[in-house]
Amino acid sequence: MSGNREAMLEKLSSLAEEQAKAVAGGGERSVARHHTRGKLLPRERIELLVDEGSAFLELSPLAGWGSDFTVGASVVTGIGVVEGVECVVTANDPTVKGGASNPWTVKKIFRAAQIAEENGLPTVSLVESGGADLPTQKEIFIPGGKLFRDLTRASARKQPTVALVFGNSTAGGAYVPGMSDYTVMVKEQAKVFLGGPPLVKMATGEESDDESLGGAEMHARTSGLADYLAEDERDAIRIGRRIVARLGRRPRPAPAAYAEPDADPEELLDLVPADLKEPFDPRDVIARICDGAGPGNAVAFDEFKPLYGTSLVTGWARLHGRPIGILANAQGVLFSQEAQKAAQFVQLANQSDTPLLFLHNTTGYMVGKEYEQGGIIKHGSMMINAISNSSVPHLTVVLGASYGAGNYGMNGRAYDPRFLFTWPSAKSAVMGPAQLAGVLEIVAQQSAESKGEVFDAEGFGAIKEMVQAQVEEQSLPHFLSGMLYDDGVIDPRDTRTVLGICLSVIENQPWTGAAGYGVFRM
Ligand code: COA
Repeated sequence: MSGNREAMLEKLSSLAEEQAKAVAGGGERSVARHHTRGKLLPRERIELLVDEGSAFLELSPLAGWGSDFTVGASVVTGIGVVEGVECVVTANDPTVKGGASNPWTVKKIFRAAQIAEENGLPTVSLVESGGADLPTQKEIFIPGGKLFRDLTRASARKQPTVALVFGNSTAGGAYVPGMSDYTVMVKEQAKVFLGGPPLVKMATGEESDDESLGGAEMHARTSGLADYLAEDERDAIRIGRRIVARLGRRPRPAPAAYAEPDADPEELLDLVPADLKEPFDPRDVIARICDGAGPGNAVAFDEFKPLYGTSLVTGWARLHGRPIGILANAQGVLFSQEAQKAAQFVQLANQSDTPLLFLHNTTGYMVGKEYEQGGIIKHGSMMINAISNSSVPHLTVVLGASYGAGNYGMNGRAYDPRFLFTWPSAKSAVMGPAQLAGVLEIVAQQSAESKGEVFDAEGFGAIKEMVQAQVEEQSLPHFLSGMLYDDGVIDPRDTRTVLGICLSVIENQPWTGAAGYGVFRM
């Protein structure tokens, strides 16, 4: 086994351990209690909701990693196919703190709503939540209002919203069924009220009970908040599928026939060196994720400007029969030529309305007198300008390094790619940990000297080590994914399938290439 493969498999096994924490939800005891109540887990509900045998693309499974909250942030989100329609699905996990929403839950649902908006998808919410996580309410109460605003704005854009209520949906949570186009409630389980019996007693002195305040029967027969009364959870899911089938979404034409990749995707595990200082050829990645040569696709990867700016590979390919333009780092550093080549290539993709795929392995733009005098800032700005104003859909996969402004020029998170996934080998930060600690040391030394003090190099050594270790930890995929800076860390072998789903999803909304850009500095 190659050293690269061994290192990648180790990272994958640590990733699997973290993902298992999200799947375990609130732990054995609360899962068992939930099952004893005759209820299904969020992933079981999703499995019954989506079409049999179809893939569910789970998003942000590591949300909240490294925080005090359970990995996954008490909600499952993703894209699933329901009655042939691609939908954003959100499902509270009631086994984690009663499904209460903590700050990461809210961020994760915001991201799911953004995906629904940008790609024009319906949203199906599988609701069972204790509302706001009360101990952290100060962080979620004010921004959390956007959850409900997003639902009604989606509806106004004709992106339908469906709520299936399986249990508690209290206080602010009551506005999920309240703001959705369709609401289904499960008999003897759904509880939807602005305030439960104790709160009502405190507020008005009125004596009440759960059923009369917010039971499914009451809402179906009396308040009218429930459009459908489901006999049980499976019935609710059946009704939900029926609703989606009638949303009037038109079937899209199937993509062109395509050939499988020219090289074996299994070998993707061998390509990335354990030490990212060693370069690797992104053409080897492209050959394992894109369609092979075949009818209508004479060349698997039609490279553009192959002899110019060779540290960035650009070219045209197809993935699951859909055309894409690819920009991929080769030698790590971006020079002026690479930046200019990128700016031209992005404009060409916009001329032909072709989506773009960015494959990151960059340490950023080249520094040094020669490069500054050669206009590296102007040229990097040109690349960032093209990418920022490009209006074709962008997909990003961080394969290896993603440092400095290279993260921006290659369409990192701040540049709003439709989807951004990370390989377990990725690392992202303002600069490498050793460089960052070294820069800090030089700055501290100069500062001491300017004050006429003696610089304590030995004492600073400990600080330097600590900072380096901290930046190293914060550059890793688990950490960044935990902060929702990507849509998930994926097994390299799944890249083709994941990108194939994304390319299908973006087709739900038409796009045209950019008509104009910011002023290009020549
Ligand atoms: N914030 C923080 N923690 C919450 C919570 C909330 N809103 N709702 C429930 N929890 C916690 C409980 O403290 C308990 O924690 P523990 O396992 O560490 O003891 C865990 O979630 C499970 O709660 P429990 O009441 O045992 O589960 P249940 O399934 O019987 O009931 C609820 C779940 C959600 C119906 C019930 O906990 C409840 O009514 N919560 C408050 C709902 C509310 O009024 N929210 C208003 C917020 S705006």
